[in-house]
Amino acid sequence: MREGVTSHPGNEGHGRGRAVIALLLGSWIGPASVHAQGPVPSILDPVAQPAQAVLDYGLLLVLVCAVIFVLVMGALVVTVIRFRARAGDGEREPPQVYGSDQLELAWTVAPVLVVIVLGLITAGRIVALQKSEAPAGSLAIRVTGHQWWWELEYPEYGFTTANELHLPVGRVAFLELESQDVIHSFWLPQLSGKTDLIPNRRNTMWIEPHQVGMVVGQCAEYCGTQHANMLLRVFIHEEAEFERWARDQQKEARTLPGTEAGRAIFANTACVNCHTVRGVSEIGRFGPDLTHLMSRTTLAAGAASNDRANLIDWIGNPDHFKPGARMPAMKLDSAQVAQVADYLASLE
Ligand code: CUA
Repeated sequence: MREGVTSHPGNEGHGRGRAVIALLLGSWIGPASVHAQGPVPSILDPVAQPAQAVLDYGLLLVLVCAVIFVLVMGALVVTVIRFRARAGDGEREPPQVYGSDQLELAWTVAPVLVVIVLGLITAGRIVALQKSEAPAGSLAIRVTGHQWWWELEYPEYGFTTANELHLPVGRVAFLELESQDVIHSFWLPQLSGKTDLIPNRRNTMWIEPHQVGMVVGQCAEYCGTQHANMLLRVFIHEEAEFERWARDQQKEARTLPGTEAGRAIFANTACVNCHTVRGVSEIGRFGPDLTHLMSRTTLAAGAASNDRANLIDWIGNPDHFKPGARMPAMKLDSAQVAQVADYLASLE
């Protein structure tokens, strides 16, 4: 597995200096780590189309510009050295050249040709990368942006999950993106460019991963207080492993012996107004579906790793991880919080 693609969450930081440089360069530096939640993704390390095609195209533009830069600067250096003022030149002006048709044609036609060729290549790339209809055999996924988390629906399989996208390697995933509230932007630098999620508008994008592993992304459009904690993880699996994951997600929630008390609190408080747990209550759509909560590695859209201790902190006081989070503290006492956490921690 290459650098920048990791199978583990919680990759620890490699130092603040590197993170700052990565931020200054707009995350153009490899797998440094800004905080404990994951590696910094790099657009220079694509693991899917169209990110690979975008990078190749970017490198082509850089190459063309580099050649032009070297030619222009080379001519400038030669001119400065060869035609510099010498002793004995006196006040005499060098011969002035006006109205040379050849010269004027050369410096007009050459740049126009460069612009036309690059423009045609760009147009071709845009047409190739945009698909408004799902290609045959693609995996349909509906992504809905919420303040501040991602709803991920797999309509062919009939389940909904949140914040952690799972994809099969080598197969096109066709995404439909909308927003429940404000404008968000879906960005996985190693997989594709950004696509906005806009209320009452259906945008589409596609991803074809060519390498298994985990990559991270993030909301890329300021959408309110917790915009920076609207994180996204993508797990890319072999086809069989993906199907196994999808079959597990299709199951209804289980209730383990000993978690009935927490389940009762969950089912009888306002929790169910926002959260669906299939088999318990399916009215809540405002917050993430929790049917298989423990199949996810993180809580609160990537703000914390998903374990019982963090569940207790999160349920007891959502502001602990995400100040301003839309989930209210339910005013449960600590024993009740622990019971709810035990119940949620059993939802594998
Ligand atoms: Cu959602 Cu920024």
